[in-house]
Order: sequence, then C-alpha cells, then structure tokens
Amino acid sequence: MLIAQLTDIHYGVSKKKQRDLGETRRLIACVDHINTFDEKIDLVVVSGDLAEDGWVEEYQALREILDRLKSPYVVIPGNHDRRQNLLAVFDDHDYLPARGENHVLFSIDHYPVRVIGLDTSLFGEPYGRLCEHRLAWLDKTLQEDTAKPTMIFMHHPPVRIGIDWVDSIGLYGSVEFADLLRKYSNIEAVCCGHVHRMVVSNISNIPVVCAPSIHCSISLSLSKNNSYSILYSDEPLSLFFHYIPSDGNLVSHLSLVNVNVIDLIGDSGELSERFKGEYRKLYPSGADR
Ligand SMILES: [Fe+2]
Ligand SMILES: [Fe+2]
Repeated sequence: MLIAQLTDIHYGVSKKKQRDLGETRRLIACVDHINTFDEKIDLVVVSGDLAEDGWVEEYQALREILDRLKSPYVVIPGNHDRRQNLLAVFDDHDYLPARGENHVLFSIDHYPVRVIGLDTSLFGEPYGRLCEHRLAWLDKTLQEDTAKPTMIFMHHPPVRIGIDWVDSIGLYGSVEFADLLRKYSNIEAVCCGHVHRMVVSNISNIPVVCAPSIHCSISLSLSKNNSYSILYSDEPLSLFFHYIPSDGNLVSHLSLVNVNVIDLIGDSGELSERFKGEYRKLYPSGADR
C-alpha cells in the first residue's frame, strides 16, 4: 500500500494579508507530483491546516485543486481549520462525520493497512488536545482489530520536538496517548504535520513522523526560548510517500517536488517582493533560472 501525505497547506484567500506566496501553485505542483508518480498511490492524506483562516471560501478554493488528484484523498483538521466549515465543504466525503459533530474521527478499513484519522484540534487554540472522548474512541477503534497494520494520522505530534515555540503549541494528552498505544502491537506509525519541518521521533516505540509543510518551513533552532521564524524559499517543496509492502514494514520516503520555488511566489504583494529579494541574495545564480 502506498499513501501520500500532504500537510499544512495553509490555503488563504484573504487579500489584505498579501500572502501571495504561491499557495495555489505549490498545491498544484504537489498534486501533479502525486499524480505522475511512477507507482499507483492508493490514498492521499491531508493532515491538517488545510486553510489559513478556516473560511468556507478557502476550503472551496483548495478543494478545486485537491479534486484533481487521481487517487482518493482524506482530510483531517489542524489548528488553523474550522471543523464545521471543513465538514460543510467536504460533506460528500463519506468517512467524515456529519456537520455538527465535535470531532473528526475516522477509521478506513478497506485497505491492507487501516488508516485512522484522529482530530487533535481545539477550536480557537494553536495547541492541540486529545481529550477523554477522543482517547476512548481511539481505544475502542483499535480494539476492533488488533492484528491489521494500522497508521494513525493526526495534526499535532504527540512528542516534544525540541523547538521551544513549537512545543509551546504542542499536544495535551500525549502521556495518556502513549499509555494507550502501549496496549497495541499493530500500529506502524503516527504521522503528523504542524511542525512545518520533517521530524522523526517515537512514542511507545512506535515511529512518529512529521511531514514538511507545503506552504513554508520554519527555521531550526534548538536553543532555549527560540523565536518564530519562517523560511519561505530556501527549503525545497516536499511531501511524504509512506510505503507498506505486503511482506514488510513501513518505509516513509521524503519526495522532493521538482519545481523552482521562486517560480511559485506570486508577482504581487509586499511580502512576495521581500521573499524574492531574500531568495536572490541566497541564490543569486538560481534566481533567474
Ligand atoms: Fe501549519
Ligand atoms: Fe498546525
């Protein structure tokens, strides 16, 4: 089974933010990359922060692009999403709960690997939470099949990353989550977003992988009290392909999307001009490729 993971699209439609950072072209490039991969992708998982502000218009606009995927895809919310707006726009996705439900929790069982979507978001808050209700649902769902290989997709990682400000918007309930996972031996990985960097860790001896954001990367600083810094241009666009052969263990491949990032940044907006300038300073010969 082959699963592509896209995360942290942060699709925005707000003109006043002037964030013409090429979200549309970034997303199209990723969709094309998945569609033209040399092996059939069974499923695409979009692991949260689909929208920047959670407006219906944002979901409608990004859905137009996601619908170009040749493979089926599923979505889970992140802290930038508004569940009810997301559920309204994707209301024909039959694995999703009905509008009005408090949490987006699902288990897709008809593939060789069971795919669980676990909603960690908490409305209005940047950090995440696994409350008793969600943990109880997960426990009950895992009990239904304790043999089938299972992957859990969730937005907030259940581990500390070591980047202070990211950890300050981390996940509450991760200790209870770790205790719960210890009861099961069929969980291949916990796959997350939110960090805007590729990160590998583990929880209860289960791999945790965070996919890079297709919107932007954050700078890496492991010093205490580090501050917020975003890199729009000097890390390549990339996504994960999770490959689970029928006779082997999960292997997660980082796959670079072969586009020139400068081409993805729009022509208008003050910020775009600044990013272009920064990019040209960093890569003077590459800027005009
Ligand atoms: Fe994000
Ligand atoms: Fe996030």
